[in-house]
Amino acid sequence: MNSSGYRTGLQEDKTIKGAVMIEKTLAIIKPDAVKKNVIGEIIQRIEKEGFKITELKMLHLSKEKAEGFYIIHKDKPFYNPLTDFMSSGKIIVMLLEREDAISFWRKVMGATDPAMAEPGTLRRKFGFSIERNATHGSDAPPTAEWEINYFFKVK
Ligand code: CMP
Repeated sequence: MNSSGYRTGLQEDKTIKGAVMIEKTLAIIKPDAVKKNVIGEIIQRIEKEGFKITELKMLHLSKEKAEGFYIIHKDKPFYNPLTDFMSSGKIIVMLLEREDAISFWRKVMGATDPAMAEPGTLRRKFGFSIERNATHGSDAPPTAEWEINYFFKVK
């Protein structure tokens, strides 16, 4: 537990802060959405949904760094085009905190394929295809811990 009342281990993702269980997740605004000039709209939505953005940076991933991030998909047929796309332009990576951050951020993003995403979700609004789907979010606590550490040194 540090001085702000947060437990320090990311493994303990659901941190007790007062009565509320705060969880961390990694969010990415992908190159398609950065090129569309909708960073501001997406960040505004993140804040409106009650997330705290506790880390944020703009990066242009190398092919190798994109491959490392998506290593879990290395045997999938879309691995090469996905990592080409993710290294094709700038991205925004963010550490988000909120109650149930992982599942809530996935709800706000909508289904992976924008065509299947609910109206009002970010991927439905800004995504173009299953690959160019505007945003990324971690899918479970161990993945969130790994993904956050891939981009941020969180104590
Ligand atoms: P993301 O949330 O970044 O996690 C992995 C990404 O792989 C996913 O979003 C999609 O962009 C991409 N992806 C998943 N399934 C497919 C698919 N069948 N074809 C192409 N890309 C995919």
